[in-house]
Amino acid sequence: MTVRIAPSLLAADFRALGHDIDRCNRGGADWIHVDVMDGRFVPNLSFGVKVIEATRQCTDRVVDVHLMVVEPENYFDDYVKAGADVLTIHAEVAPHLDRQLMRIKELGAKAGVALNPGTPLHVIEEVVHLLDVLLIMTVNPGYGGQQFIEYTVDKIERARFLLDQAGSTAALEVDGGISRATIQRCWAAGADTFVAGNAVFSAADPIAEIAHLRSLCVEQV
Ligand code: DX5
Ligand code: ZN
Repeated sequence: MTVRIAPSLLAADFRALGHDIDRCNRGGADWIHVDVMDGRFVPNLSFGVKVIEATRQCTDRVVDVHLMVVEPENYFDDYVKAGADVLTIHAEVAPHLDRQLMRIKELGAKAGVALNPGTPLHVIEEVVHLLDVLLIMTVNPGYGGQQFIEYTVDKIERARFLLDQAGSTAALEVDGGISRATIQRCWAAGADTFVAGNAVFSAADPIAEIAHLRSLCVEQV
């Protein structure tokens, strides 16, 4: 079964971003998760096109861009040009999901939809066939280092069911509070792609931590 570990650069050391991305490369990270925040959809600002460009130059892994912004379509062209492989938009600020997902695909990137903990799964039902990624937020977006919200595990299970029923091969990604303590339960519920910010970059050995998190994605005896 597929397990993808996606370290989130939000928790990296910005004084040495290239060095931290290189640790991800050496640790066998599958995706590099880049959190774009606009201070409007979420109450925090992070980074944009320059950091995506720099990330692209430092890795051959999948550059997974999580757009926590209003009017995400304003950024699609620039971010794909900068080297994003995946663009994930939030359903809460995407009134034209079909058009927006189609535009991402037209530009040659993979298209994802993210759902906040309070957003019901059914909002993606009609576009499930268009999804390359379904991102279930396991915290309220905006900050790294927050506590995992337990009730989202049930939603991951239902999301797995929904994708399987639709015959979808979309990645089922989880984001927020993923750590040694929570990753196994998300995996058992059906997630296959795990964003981890603080769990990786605050570990004593971030390179080894990527492998450690991956090793926990097994049946528990
Ligand atoms: C939260 C971001 C996350 C964040 C995860 O709004 O979308 O990707 O960086 O950080 P941790 O893994 O520390 O919860
Ligand atoms: Zn994220």
